[in-house]
Amino acid sequence: MNYNKTITNNKIELLNYLPNIGISNVKEEILTGLLAKQKYISPKFFYDGIGSELFEDITRLDEYYPTKTEKNILAEIVTDLDINFNKLNIIELGSGDASKITLFLEQITKDKLKTINYFPVDISQSAIEKSAEELLAKFELNSITGVVADFFHQLKLIPQNGKRLFCFFGSTIGNFNSDKAKKFIKNLSQNMQKGDSLLLGMDMVKNITILENAYNDNKGITAEFNLNILNVVNNLTGTNFNTSDFEHYAFYNSDLNRIEMHLRAKKDIEVNFTSKNKTIKFNKGETIHTENSHKFTSENINEFADFSNLSVKKIFVDSKEWFSLVHYLKE
Ligand code: TRP
Repeated sequence: MNYNKTITNNKIELLNYLPNIGISNVKEEILTGLLAKQKYISPKFFYDGIGSELFEDITRLDEYYPTKTEKNILAEIVTDLDINFNKLNIIELGSGDASKITLFLEQITKDKLKTINYFPVDISQSAIEKSAEELLAKFELNSITGVVADFFHQLKLIPQNGKRLFCFFGSTIGNFNSDKAKKFIKNLSQNMQKGDSLLLGMDMVKNITILENAYNDNKGITAEFNLNILNVVNNLTGTNFNTSDFEHYAFYNSDLNRIEMHLRAKKDIEVNFTSKNKTIKFNKGETIHTENSHKFTSENINEFADFSNLSVKKIFVDSKEWFSLVHYLKE
């Protein structure tokens, strides 16, 4: 497989496996979603510069408990985590700004840190570069190998040697539909060797008001974030979406245990997809589905284990049991 390799200094190495997808494929993908019966836009288009900043703002909102709750658990996890850190390879899928692994590494003694190799995997090269520098300024790790890749398709790229701890935080697993989530964990498990661990962040089913408020904040930041995807689509494809024609619509679907995020047309609308010679028509009230965020039960925790041939070693929760960090072990 082709990749670009950059060595920033003697401790940081960067591997870029992102294929050049090309703008015409992106346009095609977006158009397909907008012509579907239930219109949709893939959530990967949320995160342009503005979207990434808005998401950071969301994580600090009073109503948006997931990030804060998970970080509280992570900040106290190490003493009760049965893992030998000596010469451990830590692989974080979707490492982002590395603030979560920072909380984790802060609890590990210096002599152990020196033997640890950290592999952040993320779609954003700039996020990996920045966080690798910051981490090395803070911790004396043995090495950092940044992997710029789409972790869903490219798990095979991850180092095969030594004891490994996989980290998949943020309940990002909940953004996959349940079939895809199960397959993802199974695929990960098939790439694990005996004694390897997985720490999986899972946001739990809870009171509907708390769930719905987390996706409908008072300040309207969540609405701004959701609507911004239309600006991203305009920039990528030349469409003429007007964000003020749509409203943020997020609700809990109790049959499927998930928050659904949509954008709802406030009136009948026509949008021009000129680059593909198409017009997209919206009836008043019609929605574009932008993301799902599944919430989990303890049964789901065990289902992942059974389906993927992993064992549940320990479940770490906050006092309200709103969020779980599950330590799965490959035996
Ligand atoms: N992946 C995040 C989540 O599931 C994204 C998110 C938070 C989000 N708030 C949102 C997506 C509002 C769309 C609208 O929690």
